[in-house]
Amino acid sequence: MKQEQLEQLLLKMSVKEKVGQLTQFAGAFYMKHDDGTPVTGRIEFPVEDDMLDVSGSVLGIAGFEKVKAIQENHLHRSRLGIPLLFMADVINGFQTIFPIPLGLGATWEPSLIEKLQAVASKEASSAGLHVSFAPMADLVRDPRWGRVMESTGEDPYLNERFAAATVSGLQGRSETISNDHIGACVKHFAAYGLSEGGRDYNTVDLSERELREMHMPAYKAALQAGAKLVMTAFNTVNGMPASGNAPLLRGMLRDELDFEGVVISDFDAVEELVAHGVAENESVAAQKALQAGVDIDMMSLSYARSLSSLVEQNLIDASLLDEAVLRVLELKNELGLFEDPYRGMSVTNEQAVLNAAEHRKLACEVAEKSMVLLKNQNVLPLERNRSIALVGPYADNPDLLGEWSIFGNMEETKTLKDRLPDARYAQGSALYHREETLLLEALDVMAQADVIVLALGEGRDRSGEARSRASITLAPCQIELLKKAHETGKPVVVTLFNARPIDLTDVEPYADAILECWHPGSEGAQAVVNVLFGKTNPSGKLTMSFPRATGQIPVYYNAYKTGRPLPEGSEERFYSRYIDIPNEPLYPFGFGLSYAAFTYSNRRISQSELNPSSTLIVSVDVTNTSLVAGEEVVQLYIQDVVGEVVRPVKELKGFEKISLLPNETKTVSFEIDSEMLRYHHSDLSYASDPGLFHVWMDGSSVCEDEGKLTFTFHTS
Ligand code: GLC
Repeated sequence: MKQEQLEQLLLKMSVKEKVGQLTQFAGAFYMKHDDGTPVTGRIEFPVEDDMLDVSGSVLGIAGFEKVKAIQENHLHRSRLGIPLLFMADVINGFQTIFPIPLGLGATWEPSLIEKLQAVASKEASSAGLHVSFAPMADLVRDPRWGRVMESTGEDPYLNERFAAATVSGLQGRSETISNDHIGACVKHFAAYGLSEGGRDYNTVDLSERELREMHMPAYKAALQAGAKLVMTAFNTVNGMPASGNAPLLRGMLRDELDFEGVVISDFDAVEELVAHGVAENESVAAQKALQAGVDIDMMSLSYARSLSSLVEQNLIDASLLDEAVLRVLELKNELGLFEDPYRGMSVTNEQAVLNAAEHRKLACEVAEKSMVLLKNQNVLPLERNRSIALVGPYADNPDLLGEWSIFGNMEETKTLKDRLPDARYAQGSALYHREETLLLEALDVMAQADVIVLALGEGRDRSGEARSRASITLAPCQIELLKKAHETGKPVVVTLFNARPIDLTDVEPYADAILECWHPGSEGAQAVVNVLFGKTNPSGKLTMSFPRATGQIPVYYNAYKTGRPLPEGSEERFYSRYIDIPNEPLYPFGFGLSYAAFTYSNRRISQSELNPSSTLIVSVDVTNTSLVAGEEVVQLYIQDVVGEVVRPVKELKGFEKISLLPNETKTVSFEIDSEMLRYHHSDLSYASDPGLFHVWMDGSSVCEDEGKLTFTFHTS
């Protein structure tokens, strides 16, 4: 449709029809039981049936036949024949499930993420979906928060890269969104990852400077990549809930970032303005949300119940309603729904796409690259001729798909036991509680083997939304199992299946090797076996620090120095430190081992002075000193030694993943210019200052000082 046709359509719409376009119901509201009675959604509340006839979009349902039936019925019943938009969470895959985003981040390969998101998009569109609620671009620092699994970690630069890659994968890179791609909805705007205490839905309070410096880059990158929608977060920002926050939505998002797409609230977040205590009732909530800039009310029905009367009583400017509705119509138009509400899809196409072998192959490759080798005392890779005891509550557990795998098939997911048929198997314990018989069986199985592979972790029932944990340790029964394994004196390999950084302080001493596998997706078990036996050399690097203790949270690499930074190795009292644990996390951002060994040498800088119109080059030689080929992520960190405000001890400003054959050396170079040195000043201006800068290039954020280079930046 042309723009003027959309505007003509808008003129024909009644107020109720306009309000309908701004209402999203869960898919169940459109489903009928065999006797024709409606299958209501997750929240049992009365829904005027005719509101469904004018509604604009559907939440969380897919499957071409199902979607087609709902769309056909809707088009038949709706006066103006405006098609429904179908939206759902396709976060790390649709039916072919890839590792959780915290694992995807560990690949440090944005191009790979774009590739898998394109597969997810193709599968989702074949099943009738039009929009995915991804990327989740929230920066995270607190592993007590169950939703860290959806993020790519604690660094703004990496989060930018992955957010943009996700948008490009989902939407494609052409001007229009082709029928085998879907729209991307970046979330949760904004700074949901800072929920206090890691407790979900809790207060977020941070300075505007910190919001802009650390949290906005990834949302911005998603918008610059063309994301069609933004989802507002549950939390407050600067004292106002995001869904009622005009400075955030109309100010930063619309005016500053020039976002012209659709803003959708998170689930029930409009109504929750009442619970937050900023709206007396749902009508005021609806008024505040629309005035703040929320276009679609996801499942709170505040709009459905109140907007019409607010407009009729002139309590809300009708033009706000029209501009929101026009944005929804424009989105439907961009997806081609007015020309073809079914976007050329069919059941035959869906079946062909969903069972494509190359998707499963890619899922295995990505899972292998997401894994992070945290420890290896010459135990891995395993030799085929050694007998293996495969023990643990995750050894025969198909719960590998992660919390956002609504359309995946866990029942068809192969387990580690399936993929290690020759191993002697024992469960050893339940996931979270001890069972004596299981433990005794495990002791017997471990006694007979040469090497013990322990599969430990936490299930999806302890990760994702509304699954915050006050302690991030493994269940005591699993620690007991590990200690028993250690007591055998045999090599113990711990494979971890978890969706957040875990406190491994009680694991590390008893394990000879630790492989972080995350929730690795549909082909995760095969990927683990491929890495354990060295078919694939692990190359993952952490994008979120693993604390030494829950009490150490938050701990992250790009922290400020403080006025009393603890000198290396000091036991002095009056410094910023704990008296019972070191300041450093157990495993830092950027860390990950390989079966290969890499040395960094010959660090050099093209010149020691930089000015706004020049660039300088820093280079390092990386050598694989082992006998196996491997991949290394060479990371570039810069420290602004003195700023107008405090500056992080170091910041990731570049990275390059390289592959090296045995004894091969490659030179990795990075270009540094003044734009990379910019930051938000106390007056929120974004600029770089003259002064001294330190540079490191290394395979982790923990860099040796002798590898430090220095340059001075001059602005005059
Ligand atoms: C949930 C989540 C959000 C998701 C939405 C729809 O509450 O917060 O990330 O996209 O509802 O499922």
